[in-house]
Amino acid sequence: MQARDVLAALAPGDAVSGATLAERAGVTRAAIWKQIEILRSKGVPIEARGAAGYRLPWPLQMLDVATIRSFLPPAIAQRLGGLDVHWELDSTSTELQRRSGEAPDLSVVLAETQSAGRGRRGRSWLSPPGLNLYLSCLKRFDGGFVALQGLSLALGVIVLRALESLDIVGVGLKWPNDLLAAQGKLGGILVELSGEYQGPCAAVIGIGLNLRLTEALREQAGQPSQDMASLHGGVPPDRNAVAAALIQALAEGLETFEREGFAGFAEAYRRHDLLLGKALRLTGAAGELEGIGAGVDLGGALLLETGEGLRRIDSADVSVRRL
Ligand code: BTN
Repeated sequence: MQARDVLAALAPGDAVSGATLAERAGVTRAAIWKQIEILRSKGVPIEARGAAGYRLPWPLQMLDVATIRSFLPPAIAQRLGGLDVHWELDSTSTELQRRSGEAPDLSVVLAETQSAGRGRRGRSWLSPPGLNLYLSCLKRFDGGFVALQGLSLALGVIVLRALESLDIVGVGLKWPNDLLAAQGKLGGILVELSGEYQGPCAAVIGIGLNLRLTEALREQAGQPSQDMASLHGGVPPDRNAVAAALIQALAEGLETFEREGFAGFAEAYRRHDLLLGKALRLTGAAGELEGIGAGVDLGGALLLETGEGLRRIDSADVSVRRL
């Protein structure tokens, strides 16, 4: 019995004794205990309830390709180049990069856990199994890198649309595409481009969403974080439904982006722009800059009203803070 099987056995939320798990799998109780410890070390808060056995504090749904597909409108399901769910990957985005030569357009990869989840600006992305969502999507484009201007911001709007379809509201965008709720970061988007500057190119779009965070995970995150459970009456939406909502929003939104570019998202971005009209301090390689957020332009750059006029910031290596 592997860690995945133990998590699946505990997923309904009922207590299961080590002896029952061991008997089902034909292994020793010590072997089960080892898998429980592996899951705990990855951040899963498995409780021990004496003779009753092991238990999760709440039920969860294991990711499942057939269930995700059942939540998708047939027209969207047909357009997918592929849909794979893994137990563990180094990173769903790295996996799609490895396969980017042959993987069809709109290939989607999910993993229950990532051993080397990557965030923006060289940060790592905490990826405990079963609690949150880690999804990457390969999208091919014909028009060269210039046609991708603003893609990263448009994706922020696309993910917000998926969240709204799940009744998760009260989330805004912090340039370029951090998904922020009142108490912290709900998710993040990592866009990595490859291909020819003026020819065919591809974007690997990686999305991480917090569905359930424990106190320990919040501390490890190193930044204020919030989960979907807290925005949804204490219980997050079904994990397979969240995956399907993301996939549907991506398929629809990326089609709009191919046709209209960021112009098709600019108005929606403005409505959700948490930096608009706010006093900001930007820190980057070139030093510090202060001013008032003045929205974004059609190329996806942040506009900042400073004492010396309007500045356009398009470096991904800038950190933005509200003052
Ligand atoms: C950020 O730093 O805000 C972006 C985080 C992106 C995390 C996701 S999880 C799925 C995909 N795989 C990764 O390794 N990273 C992205």
